[in-house]
Amino acid sequence: MLVYDPDIFTTTIQVLVCLAVIVIVAIAMSNKDNKKTLPPGPRRYPVLGNLSQLKGDEMFYVKLNEMRKTHGDVLYLQLGAVKMLVVFGHDKVKKVLQDQKDNFKYRPIWLVEIKTLDLTKGIVWSNGLQNDKIRTFALPAVFPGLGPVTLTQRVQIEAEMVVKALLTEKGDSSTLKKIFYNAICNINCGLIFGSRYEYADTEFQEFIGLMDQLLQRQGIKNPLNFFPVLQKLPDSKKTKESRCVISKVSEFIHTKIQTARETFNKENITSLVDLYLAQEGEENCVTEENICHIVRDFFVAGTENVAIGLVWLIGYMVTHTDVQEKCRQYILQQTTEDNKTISMEDIEKVPYIEATVQEVLRLANIAPLSVPHAVHEEVEFEEFLIPKDTMVLTHLQSVHVDPTCWEDPDTFNPDRFIKDDKLDKKEAYMPYSIGSRYCLAAKLAQMELLITLSTLLKHFKFTDGPQTLIYTQPGAFVEPKTFCVKWTPVESDK
Ligand code: HEM
Repeated sequence: MLVYDPDIFTTTIQVLVCLAVIVIVAIAMSNKDNKKTLPPGPRRYPVLGNLSQLKGDEMFYVKLNEMRKTHGDVLYLQLGAVKMLVVFGHDKVKKVLQDQKDNFKYRPIWLVEIKTLDLTKGIVWSNGLQNDKIRTFALPAVFPGLGPVTLTQRVQIEAEMVVKALLTEKGDSSTLKKIFYNAICNINCGLIFGSRYEYADTEFQEFIGLMDQLLQRQGIKNPLNFFPVLQKLPDSKKTKESRCVISKVSEFIHTKIQTARETFNKENITSLVDLYLAQEGEENCVTEENICHIVRDFFVAGTENVAIGLVWLIGYMVTHTDVQEKCRQYILQQTTEDNKTISMEDIEKVPYIEATVQEVLRLANIAPLSVPHAVHEEVEFEEFLIPKDTMVLTHLQSVHVDPTCWEDPDTFNPDRFIKDDKLDKKEAYMPYSIGSRYCLAAKLAQMELLITLSTLLKHFKFTDGPQTLIYTQPGAFVEPKTFCVKWTPVESDK
């Protein structure tokens, strides 16, 4: 028989209230979890994830542009074991690199080559305090430069050497690339070791050969990244070769440091190596091992890309001869004496030259996906949850053609960078990236491009090129497919 028992009634009510509270909290919590999800992306298959959707000959950044059309500006991919976030357009890239820079400033140091080749002791692949310390240490060498020969002078000397080399050479854009590469490599030798080489010097050419091999590394495309189980196998031939090249480069640098030590004078710091020797033995100093990595980083991150930048400039000059002629006239106005070396002051007086360089870099996109960033813990980004250890690609090319920032984004028009006869800074122009990992040597790179282009246009006319340039990516950087070009001394058509 059911008897009304007030105690049981109260207890039941209490239990029901508790249950209701638990259910409400659980629903609220599950909603919270649901609110933040992985960003959208194409269907992921077991083991392979999205690898099969990325097959084909198209350049990776172009393929990503295709995926963006379906999935939007925040794209999530799974490449085997690699979690990858790609952000497109000015708004999202700025959020990642500036507004949330502390979450996204890391490098994916778990990539197999970074681990096995121990690359985290330099600048490009270090994280946190180590990166801050090394950036601060190395910066004076790339800006404003050290010693009695200024960085500008080093760039001017090499630009004149390029002119000299071109006077005796004929060929196509690959000939230009080779000569530009020698010049830029030499500027790096100057700022690192304090001296330059003759281009034909055997030691210099051997060093360039080693750098070439360093650039052949597979990077992210190494299958061991996608399938970590393969990392248990003995080192591949490629890894062994990379290790061998890196140790040869280190050997070369150790020898250079040893030579510099013999004549080192603390009162006369002329190079990055001197900067190292001056602080050697101090507490928490940059070590000789760090120096080997920094030097390698400078050559890998700052030689081929600048040489390619110069080839792009000449490419755009031959496809837009009106712009070439306009630039030349401005340069000649500034340097009326025949043998006057072009300075940055000359260039700054005529914004059209810098506007032209910026417009070429905007469209060329030498590093369209920048250098990979990463999150090292779970991060909320807009309505999404980005898992720990996700690699983050900032799609700089998409920023450079973002229709919300650029009028007729696909048209080559240097004047877009000029307002009231002055260079107009554009927030969405970021070939050197922005934020905490911004290219350490952007100022040097810009000066190399400006002075070399101006010097070349003062001395040569570039003609007989193609109608348009074809984009290709044979290695780490996007470059124009080899094109025909003829260079003729300006004097000869007076
Ligand atoms: C046209 C030439 C160049 C372009 C387009 C370029 C572009 C870039 C980009 C996009 C990054 C990645 C930034 C990021 O992760 O957010 C970078 C980083 C870097 N660049 Fe450059 N760069 C150029 C020239 C140079 C030169 C000449 C040097 C040195 C001699 C150099 C040294 C570096 C270093 C050390 C980093 C790594 C910074 C860090 O991780 O903290 N770059 N560069």
